Amino acid sequence: MDGKTINLLQAAIDRRKPLRRYTNALRLVNGLGDGLAGLVLEQYSRHFAAHIFQKKWFSEEKALAGFVKARFDARYMIVKDRTEPVSSGPEAIEARVLIENDASDTTVLENGLKFSVDLNDAVNSGLFLDMRHNRKVVSRLAKGRKVLNCFAYTCSFGVYCLSGGSSSVVNVDISRKSLSRGRLNYELNRLSYAQNEFIRADANHYLKRVLAKDNRFDLIVLDPPSFSRYDGKTFSVKKDLAQLIALAIKALNPGG
Ligand SMILES: C[S@@+](CC[C@H](N)C(=O)[O-])C[C@H]1O[C@@H](n2cnc3c(N)ncnc32)[C@H](O)[C@@H]1O
Repeated sequence: MDGKTINLLQAAIDRRKPLRRYTNALRLVNGLGDGLAGLVLEQYSRHFAAHIFQKKWFSEEKALAGFVKARFDARYMIVKDRTEPVSSGPEAIEARVLIENDASDTTVLENGLKFSVDLNDAVNSGLFLDMRHNRKVVSRLAKGRKVLNCFAYTCSFGVYCLSGGSSSVVNVDISRKSLSRGRLNYELNRLSYAQNEFIRADANHYLKRVLAKDNRFDLIVLDPPSFSRYDGKTFSVKKDLAQLIALAIKALNPGG
C-alpha cells in the first residue's frame, strides 16, 4: 500500500475514535466517504472484516491485513469479495481468511450490551453496524411499550428494547439460524424469554395473524431486506413494502 492509502486509512480510523467510548464494533472505513472507494473495513473487537467492492483492492489485501495486525493486534480477519451483487444469496460470496489466531465468532459490546457475531457465517456478521444509532433511538421510544420486531435477524432491536424497559418484545424472522443467534444475544445480556417471543414466520403472514386475533402492539420495527424468498414466495421492497406498512399500521394500538 502506498503512503497516501496508509494516511487515508489512519485518518478514517482516527475519525471514529469518539465512538470507542460506546462500542468496540465499528465501521473503520466507509469507502468513498473516507477517500477509499471500494473498501469497507469493519472492526468487531479484535476481529476484522474487509468488504471489497472494487477489484483494485484484491492486490492490497495482504498489506491491509498486515496493517490491521500491526495497528490492532488483530486475532481474526476475513476479506469478502463484494464485487458482484449478492442476489444469488448471502452464502454465495467468496471470502478469504487472512488472519486466524482465533475462531471466526466473537462477542462485541455496544452501549453496554453484548452481541454475538460470526464474521465467517454469511455476508453479514450478525450485527448491522450502521443501525447503531437507530437501535438507541428505538430503545428510547420503546420504554414501557409492547414491541413487535419484524425482520428481526439476530434480534438486536429486541435486546435494546427489552434492556430499555419495553413491556414485551416479539421477534419475527424467517431464518431459524438468525433467531437462534437472537436467543444467544438475549442470554448474553441476561434477558429472560419465552419461546413465543421468537417466531419463525413470514412477517406479512404474522401481521395478518395478529390482526385476525385482534392483537395489537405499541411499536413495530420493520427493517426488511430489499429482496428475499420464503416458502416459494418472494418479498421485495419495491413490490411489497407499501402493503406491509399498511398492515403494520393496522396492527398498532392507538398512539403507536
Ligand atoms: C436487513 S435484515 C434485518 C436486520 C435487523 N433488523 C437488525 O437490525 O439486525 C433482514 C432480515 O429479514 C429476514 N427476512 C427476509 N424475508 C423475510 C420475511 N418475508 N419475513 C420475515 N423475515 C424475513 C431475513 O432472514 C433477515 O434476518
